[in-house]
Amino acid sequence: MKKIGIMTTGGDCSGLNTVINRIVCGAHARGWRTYGIIDGTDGLCCIPANAVELTPDTVPIENARLAGSFLHNGNIGVMNFETAAKSGRLGLFNKTLKKSLTTLNLDALILVGGNGSLSLAYKNNDIYSNLSLVCIPKTIDFDIPITERTIGFDTAVNELVKYCDQLILTSRSHHRWFVVQTMGRECGRLALNAGVAFGADAIIIPEIKFNVDDLIKHIRNVGRDYGIIMVSEGITLRGHSGRPADMISRKLTAAEIPNRTAFPDYIQRTGDTIANDRIIAAKMVTCALNAIENRETNVMTALRGGKCVTVPLSEFYESGDISRDPNIPDLCTSNAYVEPDDPLLGVATSMNIYIGQTK
Ligand code: F6P
Repeated sequence: MKKIGIMTTGGDCSGLNTVINRIVCGAHARGWRTYGIIDGTDGLCCIPANAVELTPDTVPIENARLAGSFLHNGNIGVMNFETAAKSGRLGLFNKTLKKSLTTLNLDALILVGGNGSLSLAYKNNDIYSNLSLVCIPKTIDFDIPITERTIGFDTAVNELVKYCDQLILTSRSHHRWFVVQTMGRECGRLALNAGVAFGADAIIIPEIKFNVDDLIKHIRNVGRDYGIIMVSEGITLRGHSGRPADMISRKLTAAEIPNRTAFPDYIQRTGDTIANDRIIAAKMVTCALNAIENRETNVMTALRGGKCVTVPLSEFYESGDISRDPNIPDLCTSNAYVEPDDPLLGVATSMNIYIGQTK
């Protein structure tokens, strides 16, 4: 009988509980036991490790749709790679994780994480040398390379669309524009997808240069005195500081275009998990359990051509755009961004959405 550990690390997103529910269902159907590690790596730093045995009743099907993670994603003052690196205790931290995993006597660990966690797992894979490590990519930012989707992205897009569906009503009533700031870090995929799905009049993302005068001209010409300008949190405007939505708003105000800013913030990480994210969860979990059966290790599940396959963590790391992690000294992460040939850029332009200088 195999013993499988499950850990959710990094920022939460909707879909994590569906993943946990599906892992438990699939593992139990195979006669395996499942253990949830609480608060990510912090749960492995306690002696004994903070892990609970999971049964199909722990995250029952009626709760599988709920956002957040039943296993939590970290607490203030927790031990994680960031706090360990910042306090110069990375060596000790790595040793503790390895020892803790050995004591738990797991055959496999399913790590549900974002690009930071996956990059760390790749760079520190000695920690996991006594078991089979399978990663499932999750993030609302969808900034992970070599997969066509990450858990949580579609629900986040859906939350933004629902938010704009309501905002546009007050926007019309008051004849004014809304500058909506999305999350996504340096990756504009969340803003681009949500903007196209809703029908924003402009989408400003970090990957594409934009010109404020062109944006204002576009807004004046859409033939309406209300609408939504979607701005990704990662954009910058030379000579200006503050929140991106505020910077754009100030420019609109200076051009006498009535407007307000709106910050959906953390609701992008919440909302009942939508059907497509649940299907992706089921596909990725099936793939992860098969990988464990086949004794694969140091792999990540990835959607390719709609099918779920495993790819080595080395391929995940090397196929991305490598940049320094601002929070973890000495760590480089592998990132994905909106590519110049992203079909949605052409769709946005054809729908008369201002997207910046795409050519
Ligand atoms: O990476 C997910 C994300 O929600 C980003 O889009 C956002 O910038 C960040 O996390 C917020 O992080 P925190 O939870 O630390 O405020």
